[in-house]
Amino acid sequence: MRAWCVAVPKGQGESIRKGLLERGILVKHLRIVREGDLLLLPTERRVDIGFPVEQREFSEEFVSVRSYKDVADVPPSLRRSLPSSFDVVGDIAVIKIPDGLRPHREAMGRAILQWNPKIRVAAEDRGVKGERRVRQIGIIAGERRTTTVHVEHGLRYHVDLAAAYFSPRLASERKRIADLVREEEVVADPFAGVGPYAILIAKRRRPRQVHASDANPVAVGLLRTNVAANRAERVEVREGDARTVLREIGPVDRAILDLPHSALRFLPDALAAVGSRGTIHLYRILEQAEEADTERQIRSVARAAGFRVVDLRLRHVRAYSPTQHHTAFDVTVVRGSRPSGPDTSRTGGRTSRTRASRAPGRRSGRTARRSGARGRRTRR
Ligand SMILES: C[S@@+](CC[C@H](N)C(=O)[O-])C[C@H]1O[C@@H](n2cnc3c(N)ncnc32)[C@H](O)[C@@H]1O
Repeated sequence: MRAWCVAVPKGQGESIRKGLLERGILVKHLRIVREGDLLLLPTERRVDIGFPVEQREFSEEFVSVRSYKDVADVPPSLRRSLPSSFDVVGDIAVIKIPDGLRPHREAMGRAILQWNPKIRVAAEDRGVKGERRVRQIGIIAGERRTTTVHVEHGLRYHVDLAAAYFSPRLASERKRIADLVREEEVVADPFAGVGPYAILIAKRRRPRQVHASDANPVAVGLLRTNVAANRAERVEVREGDARTVLREIGPVDRAILDLPHSALRFLPDALAAVGSRGTIHLYRILEQAEEADTERQIRSVARAAGFRVVDLRLRHVRAYSPTQHHTAFDVTVVRGSRPSGPDTSRTGGRTSRTRASRAPGRRSGRTARRSGARGRRTRR
């Protein structure tokens, strides 16, 4: 590649190289050339630091590129604002572009493809919108497609990032839930998307049945494809609104309410699907200050539906914003007419706990617990 360079004496080479690097002027992916007593340092542009300059060819071979940032063709002043991480779904990189970098998004996309040849598409993530949680996607480099096959926990998922929700960041949470499923359980996954909870449970545990459904027909099409591709025979697929589906199926031992912005609205329907005892995993996006109130609401809805809450744990799945968490409530209920008694709430503080109502004849123990987990977002 042809680039400007500055010819400096070998003895001063390292300190000048560092100086150029700090100023964002050194082209890091080009090999420095030794010529006699001189080092030729490749630069982003012509620089005048008191040494001779020229334009010449530099080799790009055998250069270790540790980040796409090293090869992104953006003005040096903006280099520091390049995002350090992005998601990779199958062979598609999905990156959020800060406002100041939008005019350079194609260059960022090209850098990502250059940095990792296994990535064939670079896409801009403009956020998830609407009840169907569909991602607004714009291709910034590479092949013009939003479909790919993503492998998670050894299972293959056909996805269409622009038409049905999928996020690789919830892989650990899906594993956590799957690990809780006991033999012969009936599980409801009424917000199944393309099926990463339902299929993982069906393939890695021994449930009797997993009811997987979604209101988005594109998601359901992909869910059917994924069930077939992974031979997850125990997954029964439906298309439809969660409320209707939950009223049709049952009794279930476990329900996954993975619609964080409005899951609470569906709690009465999930409870109606539960048999004599069951566990509901309810997800919310919450400020920490809202957690106690959400717990109270869960208890109140359960009580109104004729259930006792025998265990309630909350867990931060990942940070959602500087002040909010994607939060999981694992709620175990037992059908029974006896009211659960007054709600007891956390007293505040980082390690505070909530105590669930005591099951008759059992020691009351720690029944609500907070534990943290970070989402998966690799530095690139
Ligand atoms: C956050 S996504 C979760 C997808 C999936 N659980 C996953 O882990 O990839 C929520 C899903 O709920 C679906 N959805 C939204 N409202 C719904 C409703 N009322 N009934 C059924 N599905 C609904 C959306 O189409 C979307 O696929």
